[in-house]
Amino acid sequence: MVDLLLRGGILVDGTGALPRRADVAIASDRIAAVGELPASGATRVIDVDGLVVAPGFIDAHTHDDRLLFTDPGMAPKLSQGVTTVVVGNCGISLAPLGRREPVPPLNLVAGGDGPFFDSLADYFAALDREPPAINAAALVGHTTLRAVTMASLDREADASEIDAMRAHVAQALAAGALGVSTGTFYAPARAATRDEVLRILEPMRGTGAVVCSHIRDEGDHVIDSLDEVIGIARELGIRQVVSHHKVQGRTNFGRSKETLAHLEEAALTADVCVDCYPYAASSTVLRVDSARQASRVLVAWSQALPDCAGRFLDDLARDWGLDLEGAIAKLQPAGAIYFSMDEADVERILAHPGTMIGSDGLPHDRFPHPRLWGAFPRVLGHYGRKRGLFPLETAVRKMTGLTAERFGLSDIGFVKPGLRADLAVFDAETVIDTATFENPVSPARGIERVIVGGRIAWEAGESTGSRNGVAFRRRA
Ligand code: ZN
Ligand code: CU
Repeated sequence: MVDLLLRGGILVDGTGALPRRADVAIASDRIAAVGELPASGATRVIDVDGLVVAPGFIDAHTHDDRLLFTDPGMAPKLSQGVTTVVVGNCGISLAPLGRREPVPPLNLVAGGDGPFFDSLADYFAALDREPPAINAAALVGHTTLRAVTMASLDREADASEIDAMRAHVAQALAAGALGVSTGTFYAPARAATRDEVLRILEPMRGTGAVVCSHIRDEGDHVIDSLDEVIGIARELGIRQVVSHHKVQGRTNFGRSKETLAHLEEAALTADVCVDCYPYAASSTVLRVDSARQASRVLVAWSQALPDCAGRFLDDLARDWGLDLEGAIAKLQPAGAIYFSMDEADVERILAHPGTMIGSDGLPHDRFPHPRLWGAFPRVLGHYGRKRGLFPLETAVRKMTGLTAERFGLSDIGFVKPGLRADLAVFDAETVIDTATFENPVSPARGIERVIVGGRIAWEAGESTGSRNGVAFRRRA
């Protein structure tokens, strides 16, 4: 007997294999069988004729650390077919920040009424106690470790601070972290040298953990910045994930040809891969250098002037009779969306066979970048179906099997007997993002059902209220 049978669907299994007709049987939280299966042995049968049955999507790059607790229904992700999020990216994990003041960009994930965590073990234990609708895996952030270890962040860490951060890394790995993230692009980690990062990551040597990096510069110095992180990973013998790979600024348009060739060459001697979100605009805290690089800037949130969220910075500056710097100062603390990339670069990076999909969505922004609600259906519908960048099975692999392999998530990512029953059921002909830069909070179309750990979590355009997500700990 099985609990649930999805009958008559088109299986796209996460390996990149061609779509094929297959039924999928689920017993408890596991996939029990795949193939031509009798309906008689199932407690419940759902007819999914004409729909795609795929592994639940894995969001390789998120800042959902706190959202898992403040909005455990996780609608922005669940509505896209996402069943697992990797939290703690860009150097800024919620744990183990505790109650310390979240200096920007830590305020993108931490703050408000909490919750607060002094260790990753506590963070995981809280997820066990209060399961969200989807699963989570976690990185521990280097910037967070600097914030808990150093009295001033504008310098390189000294020997005792490095020791303390190294102990935190070892502790996080023991608790089940997938690895560590770094973000030397950002002020609180900019003073960290290559050597500081290398020494802090030392406990990762030989563990199979990954390092995910928001590199120092995604503009003019993108190649040097890639080399910095790849060199560290190579020296430690660990896998490097280059976060949200892109090239920014008009003078760098087209340079993804160069960066991708460079990454391919590096991959001959180091273990390196990338994630990417499917948009030609970025989003993070509001800062002058990023604004200068962009053709336009949209305010995502402002603590000083909340009602400015959703307005263009140049319009505000004109209204106020201020220059760019003046307008930015008036809005702080704030976040923004930067139109700073070339669409051809975005397509080239997305289409690269080694590229995984990560949303980089910022869930606490008042006027968020549409990637928060739209990244995965946009890859399927816009870049896959409409633009023809890749066939369906490749699009699915980039958001499932490839990601599971790269992050060492051995229980998910494929539709295979024995694996966890996390599934996305969608209409390949209609699936599309509806979130836009004008109206960013809007669920996708065409995601018919989402199953998390054998239970239906999303159907008929809404959440079922199921809270069956688990915290994935990496096993050493
Ligand atoms: Zn980042
Ligand atoms: Cu990020």
